[in-house]
Amino acid sequence: MAIEALRPPEDAPPPTKAVYDGFAYFQGKIVPFAEANVSIGTHALNYGTACFEGIRGYWNAEQNEIYLLKLAEHYQRFLKSTALLKIKLDESVEQLCELTREVVRRDGYHTDVYVRPLAYKASAMIKVDLHSPEDAVAIFAMPMGAYSRIDGLRVTISSWRRVSDNSIPARAKITGAYINTALATEDANAAGYDDCLMLTEDGHIAEGSAANFFMIQGRTLVTPPVTDDILVGITRAAVMQLAADVELDVVERSIDRTEVYQADEAFLCGTGVQVAPIVEVDGRAVGSGRPGTTTLRLQEAYFRAVRGNDPRYRQWCTPVYGGMPRIT
Ligand SMILES: Cc1ncc(COP(=O)(O)O)c(C=O)c1O
Repeated sequence: MAIEALRPPEDAPPPTKAVYDGFAYFQGKIVPFAEANVSIGTHALNYGTACFEGIRGYWNAEQNEIYLLKLAEHYQRFLKSTALLKIKLDESVEQLCELTREVVRRDGYHTDVYVRPLAYKASAMIKVDLHSPEDAVAIFAMPMGAYSRIDGLRVTISSWRRVSDNSIPARAKITGAYINTALATEDANAAGYDDCLMLTEDGHIAEGSAANFFMIQGRTLVTPPVTDDILVGITRAAVMQLAADVELDVVERSIDRTEVYQADEAFLCGTGVQVAPIVEVDGRAVGSGRPGTTTLRLQEAYFRAVRGNDPRYRQWCTPVYGGMPRIT
């Protein structure tokens, strides 16, 4: 199959399109999205006390199916984020997976989708702590195509540092922490870049604004360790698994800023960006200045796997409309 057929359809809606129709899991029921509303007093809205996930579902036209990618893994991370914020949910990983399938099924989408689970401090109260407010969970989905370009990103090193583990832990997907992402992305885009890389407080590469970072040196794939203020990405783990298919060793270690300038290849990966080659950093070409050949092989392997077209990785894919749910 040609790589073009594996990529998200170009006519897929842009990620910024608002969702006003469809359904949501809200207050223990599946309701029309338009009815899933909260008060302006909501703790999470006022203080950023919520955590979330982003899960892609890939439409496979031949199989008439949407495959939710690494569904259980996302909810396992979700429950780790909720534990950090002392959010107690009644729903188990298995139930959240099943509810997600049900929401997308009710939506009836026949396109690539993005699922947003959100666990939040729901009480309307003025008190900044974690144990006082009541907790709630919601799940909704929307159509989504490419989130950012996958044909070569021009990035800058952000002057905003990545939030550190002792301020707001990046390893939990906390809504309030995404101010860090928004500040960095805003400045990078205003300066004409597609995205940025963010440094830890001690000056090592942490990750992209909303994606994990990899560079290729010879036959080695290098990525920052989980202790360098990253969100430990589900896509990062998938890429590390695919690395063996393209005969790459994987090393997790701290990365100096100038190593990126001198890398053979580099790319970002994440649920939103998928596998996105980096071609330029601060006006310096990475490698040849075009998407690297090994990165493109990884990208192709990724798209094949996530659309359910590689039997070796079929266990990554949970069908929405048919088959049995994959419970791990
Ligand atoms: C800050 C940040 N880092 C990394 C990632 C990649 O994580 P995942 O592959 O689990 O989507 C994301 C989310 O997409 C993110 O927001």
